[in-house]
Amino acid sequence: MSSKSVNGTLTPETTFNPHLYRKDFPVLSREVHGKPLVYLDNAASSQMPQQVIDSYAEYHGSYHSNVHRGVHALSQQATDEYEGAREYIRAYINASSTKEVIFTSGATDSINLVAQSYGRTNIKEGDEILITNMEHHANIVPWKMLCEETGAVLKVIPITDKGELDLEAFEELLSEKTAILGVVMVSNALGTINPVKEMIAKAHEKGAVVVVDGAQAMPHVRIDVQDLDVDFFAFSAHKVYGPTGCGVLYGKKSLLEEMPPYRGGGDMILSVSFDEVIYNQLPYKFEAGTPGISQVIGLARALKYVDEIGVEKIAAWEDELLSYATQEIKKIPQVKVIGEAENKASVLSFVIEGVHPHDIGTILDEDGIAIRTGHHCAQPVMERFCIPATSRASFAFYNTKEEVDALIASLKKVIEIFT
Ligand code: ALA
Repeated sequence: MSSKSVNGTLTPETTFNPHLYRKDFPVLSREVHGKPLVYLDNAASSQMPQQVIDSYAEYHGSYHSNVHRGVHALSQQATDEYEGAREYIRAYINASSTKEVIFTSGATDSINLVAQSYGRTNIKEGDEILITNMEHHANIVPWKMLCEETGAVLKVIPITDKGELDLEAFEELLSEKTAILGVVMVSNALGTINPVKEMIAKAHEKGAVVVVDGAQAMPHVRIDVQDLDVDFFAFSAHKVYGPTGCGVLYGKKSLLEEMPPYRGGGDMILSVSFDEVIYNQLPYKFEAGTPGISQVIGLARALKYVDEIGVEKIAAWEDELLSYATQEIKKIPQVKVIGEAENKASVLSFVIEGVHPHDIGTILDEDGIAIRTGHHCAQPVMERFCIPATSRASFAFYNTKEEVDALIASLKKVIEIFT
């Protein structure tokens, strides 16, 4: 089915109504510089619905206390909610056990955990760590540090002019020497959705362990870690409508069991003396210190919210917004889109000839429009396209076509001012 869109072109019929959900997000009704907020910086951090804010506030207002440490009612309730959240998240990503769901401070922390714990134990001089040219710094720097510590060699899968992985080069680079493959599922700078399931299968044939950075994928893609057969999968709460300072490392139990703790402290031990420390079992072995209890509860509530709408419906609407925005932005001759992969999530990176992205961001901000400008913590992507930075609009399911129109109108204003 198809229908005429506002600009007269044929678009797929959609029954998705973002206004049904916008009312759940209090921040979306505020004004910025006297204009209605148009929030198009969802790839940096998405907004939280009231349901998540309430779950977070309820913990602080009615049962705030520590977990795993008290016989009193509040601590037991906090522990039940915290562990209930772990079970919800386990089921959401289809992990086989809650022992495989480790809470961290975010995707960055999750990848560092793998690099430092699995990496320092298993990687030796001459091993190769294969990553891609479109990684976020969080999936580059921990591996660079590990290479410096161990003498392993970092190899990089190139990207094409369209912003897709060069899969032939991937197969050439992959060898028995590849100990780890680190790959982003959805690029935060380009929006490219990578064929990680196929890449994981190929890496496993060579005996490599695969770490997927799923931070940008979680809001758009249904994740099934068993179907992917991924060894480690990292994501952050704040990119999937949850709070900041919280994330997950999924790891296969067989690998996690063999890995040493990454940080020492309370809760990750069974007993401590000056002669001997006996570590706790999974997943607590990797969760030293008081965790982000309300954040974890908020993350589970955020995933429940996404599930109630349906991530497939969310992705379909975001695809429609991306197609519409791409079509409209390409009508502006001074704009060049960076990243035109066939399979792409709702990220629109672009440059305007002769205008610095920071100036674009500033003028848009005056119109109440929030986008991100800069290198997006992916400097090698900028280098690949020979640019210092891009402007990036990134869409969530609560965004509307009218907001895309506001973006386009404001960009035309930028061009009038600067050219
Ligand atoms: N990694 C985040 C982004 O893409 C912060 O903007």
